[in-house]
Amino acid sequence: MNNHILKLENIHKYYFENKNKLHILNNLNLEIKSGEFISILGKSGSGKTTLLNILGLLDAVNSGALYYDGININELNEQEKNITRNKYLGFVFQFHYLLPEFTALENVTLPCFVQNKNLKNINSIKKRASELLEILELKDRLNHKPSMLSGGEKQRVAVARALINNPKVLLADEPTGNLDEETSEHINSLFKKINTEFNQTIIVVTHSSELANVSQKRYHLKKGALVLK
Ligand SMILES: Nc1ncnc2c1ncn2[C@@H]1O[C@H](COP(=O)(O)OP(=O)(O)OP(=O)(O)O)[C@@H](O)[C@H]1O
Ligand SMILES: [Mg+2]
Repeated sequence: MNNHILKLENIHKYYFENKNKLHILNNLNLEIKSGEFISILGKSGSGKTTLLNILGLLDAVNSGALYYDGININELNEQEKNITRNKYLGFVFQFHYLLPEFTALENVTLPCFVQNKNLKNINSIKKRASELLEILELKDRLNHKPSMLSGGEKQRVAVARALINNPKVLLADEPTGNLDEETSEHINSLFKKINTEFNQTIIVVTHSSELANVSQKRYHLKKGALVLK
């Protein structure tokens, strides 16, 4: 057996615009081991979000294979894909998408309720959420609503929310794209901490060379394929 948590083989993805075929991912290959932290850089329009949506099982490929722990995603039905998504993946986006009427702690616990409607273990869920918020240096902000949090604090709550279901892989699309330099640096160091202290596998798409520099492997998405830098 191989020890890759994620493997992409000869991925092709294209869109049709009028009669033009836009070949966005062109024979793309990638292997990621558990505990790796990789970054993907590339100019605007190079296909980074397209790739992340494919990794997140939010979009399908035109050809090629995607494996999580050796499971071929092409062979799963929609329900099995949802189960795989919940078990394997946590998402962080450029915008935090926190719900304004809930506190930081409540926002972090929400994915647990979406996933299983069993409310019996609410105390252990809350405990895990407050531990995550503490790791993300938000111990004193548990009961603040998003409007009472800074941009960087909101994004850190979003990271905690992405981690609540213990995903095997954390996927982040421009997590610091909307933040100033100093706030970004704090987020960068927290991604590094989550990776090194908790062995969290992370794939981050970014324009920021500072964020890429805290990852272990830097790829550039060029002409539809990944080049290691
Ligand atoms: N649903 C779609 N239909 C047609 N074209 C699309 C679709 N989604 C994306 N594209 C095109 O595919 C290309 C890659 O888009 P993508 O969003 O993956 O780029 P990106 O690298 O994430 O860019 P950015 O850095 O600006 O976020 C772009 O040219 C975009 O216009
Ligand atoms: Mg994008």
